[in-house]
Amino acid sequence: MTAAATTSVTEAAIERALGVLDLEAKVRLLSGQDWWTLPALPEIGLRSLVMSDGPIGVRGIGWAPDDPSVALPSPTALAATWDPELAREAGRLLGQEARRKGVHVLLAPTVNLHRSPLGGRHFECYSEDPLLTGEIGAGYVTGVQDQGVGTTVKHFVANDSETDRFTVDVRVSERALHELYLAPFERIVAAGAWGVMAAYNGVNGSTMTEHAELQHGLLKERWGFDGFIVSDWTAARSAVGTANGGLDVVMPAHGDPWGPELVAAVRAGRVAQDVIDDKVRRVLRLAARVGLLDGVPPAVEPADRPAPLHGPDVARHIATRSFVLARNEGAVLPLDRTTLRRVAVSGALATDARILGGGSAQVVPERIVSPLAGLTAALPGAEVTYTIGADPRPKLPAATGAQWSPITATLRGAGGEVLYRAELGTAIVRWMGGLPDGVDPADLASVELTARHTPRTGGEHQLSIDGFGMFNLTVAGTAIFDGPVFDEDQDPTVTFFAPVERRFPTTMREGEPVEVTLTLQVVEGMAGFVQFALGHAEPTADADELLDAAARAAAEADVAVVVVGTTEQVESEGFDRTTLALPGRQDELVTRVAAANPRTVVVVNAGSPVLMPWADEVAAILLTWFPGQEAGAALADVLLGGAEPGGRLPTTWPRHADDVPVLSTTPVDGKLDYDEGVFVGYRGWRADPLFPFGHGLGYTTWSYESLTVEPDSSGDGLVAVVTVRNSGTRTGREVVQVYVGPSDPDPERPTRQLAGFATVTAAPDETITVRVPLAARTTQIWAGQWSTVPGRYTVEAARGVADVRLTATVDVTG
Ligand code: BGC
Repeated sequence: MTAAATTSVTEAAIERALGVLDLEAKVRLLSGQDWWTLPALPEIGLRSLVMSDGPIGVRGIGWAPDDPSVALPSPTALAATWDPELAREAGRLLGQEARRKGVHVLLAPTVNLHRSPLGGRHFECYSEDPLLTGEIGAGYVTGVQDQGVGTTVKHFVANDSETDRFTVDVRVSERALHELYLAPFERIVAAGAWGVMAAYNGVNGSTMTEHAELQHGLLKERWGFDGFIVSDWTAARSAVGTANGGLDVVMPAHGDPWGPELVAAVRAGRVAQDVIDDKVRRVLRLAARVGLLDGVPPAVEPADRPAPLHGPDVARHIATRSFVLARNEGAVLPLDRTTLRRVAVSGALATDARILGGGSAQVVPERIVSPLAGLTAALPGAEVTYTIGADPRPKLPAATGAQWSPITATLRGAGGEVLYRAELGTAIVRWMGGLPDGVDPADLASVELTARHTPRTGGEHQLSIDGFGMFNLTVAGTAIFDGPVFDEDQDPTVTFFAPVERRFPTTMREGEPVEVTLTLQVVEGMAGFVQFALGHAEPTADADELLDAAARAAAEADVAVVVVGTTEQVESEGFDRTTLALPGRQDELVTRVAAANPRTVVVVNAGSPVLMPWADEVAAILLTWFPGQEAGAALADVLLGGAEPGGRLPTTWPRHADDVPVLSTTPVDGKLDYDEGVFVGYRGWRADPLFPFGHGLGYTTWSYESLTVEPDSSGDGLVAVVTVRNSGTRTGREVVQVYVGPSDPDPERPTRQLAGFATVTAAPDETITVRVPLAARTTQIWAGQWSTVPGRYTVEAARGVADVRLTATVDVTG
């Protein structure tokens, strides 16, 4: 839906509404009234607009355990499908989830680039390549908006890492900015996005919420964007600078610099009335599109919305299509279920899958299928054993299971009276933006979690408080902690989503029940936000013994499956990674298991690249990203051959950290220099990576038969015509990738760039021809404007940037 598509009825209604509002009302409309919503203005028939994160699920404003959200695979996984249509399906499901939860605008997608694999939100972005990012993002946005729900493409722009995220000034050349970082935004705005989110960081000296040249000059004027620009949460820090810089909406209410100050600035002539009117028009246009302006038809009538989708099915399908089979020696995969007698599973993440990354992208799904549960269910005829092997988790898991019953949460008022009480399956208390059963946050004085534990084994157990605030922990009637749990130096988002943990060793006797009570004292200002957990771990063997046990179990099995990955302390919003190595002793675990069993399959559960020093020692490596709630079901589908692992790498996976072209994300004197210019990702790689961009095996093989390059139907562009044949023995799916680069090497330009791609499915021996339009930008550079560089270009049809199968040349004139 583009500017041209907003109807004259809508625009006329907007003008009428504008005529009714005075300056105060207009300004009020431009700021959040709380954490997630804009105010209603009944005088113009406008209802309150609700926003919510994004991007793998819809959290909703009231984050409550009894209102779960479908959790799809991480954005890196979605990009690994190389399938914009599937991204559109993901978007449609999320649009449907948004409607279910009363959300009108989804705070997604995140389309910053994988500049460095250390970036904390790498998992939340799509790719190191702007074309792939733009195509997946456009599919996603179209899908969400198909449901009549808005999107905010974020974070505009150059928010590619987290260190000093609120203040860092990114120094980037105009050329790299346009050719790489702005390109996905441009593509998705052209696809009709209704919103954009301005980033926290600055670009070349101006903080983004005040960046008139990029927000106003480029996005609105040059690209013709008719939607709204919302600040990232608390990113707007001035009244006049942001108002004149092109920002339309300030979120949230907390710390809002607009309101009376903006009204005064308009009255003093420092912000023009027209500037305010333009913002109001944009907000009303958005409200009209999502159906909140009385008398104006929404952009998508209910009858035109896509048919409902089943969340778990979509999550499972996307996961299988995203898994990248990076290595498969001796075709160990797929496993043959008819001959399998015993499968030895190990790794902490096999039972506690990391299904999503940390920060505002978190949602709570109804269920999580762990890898162990998925494999066990899919292999009724085999024995599936489990040993933990190594445990990298920095926190104790929340108390749960048959040994912990009952678990009760009680909300109490100032006099100790019970306001609400509920039984929980797991010792996690989490309400955000609202309390259950209409409890008024102002009445809440404490939240009490009581749980009864009957130990399976005697000895030293560990209990933990995982939360922030003033806590009291009592075990068997004895207080063992009473005080604050808080890290003042932490980013507030991190504090909320991944608080610090305090542990308490506690001796227990086998079979003797103990009552544990963990109480949070509510302090002013936090009443609508309650989140904490009681963690527990049984006495455990020492780390060497755990490794020995895993190796022994592997030796006795037909096949060993080791699940390794990152933890919430590694990949999250709010901070960058400090290393690409797997945490804890997981590398040792893989080496030990692989030495014990030559048929070792390593499942890597990480949203972004990790180092795999054992890569050449194992039979198979399957990269599963953060696979979403159906993790284990999708894993069983792929390992047992029910589905082909359909993914291709959206980003390069290094063998050594030192080989990565851009690694550091640490600003110097508040500035982060993008010195590498346009040489990011595969464009900048010199050494051989472990797994190159675009790499991914399937369960069949492909022969590339022919490549020609033709003018497209308009005569202005080029199309690669590629014929491929399924040369294997089972039906499969291939991602045909086309790269373009100057035939005469040009040190100022990348050797090759992704120019287009297409997916095909073919039966054994079937031949398929695809026409892949080549992006004009691959023969252009930005020098104040786009200009074509004439000359001869090499066009490559490839199975990945380092696996070129066919080449052709084409002469391009200026
Ligand atoms: C994040 C955004 C998010 C917002 C609201 C910010 O900290 O950077 O991506 O949409 O919070 O949760």
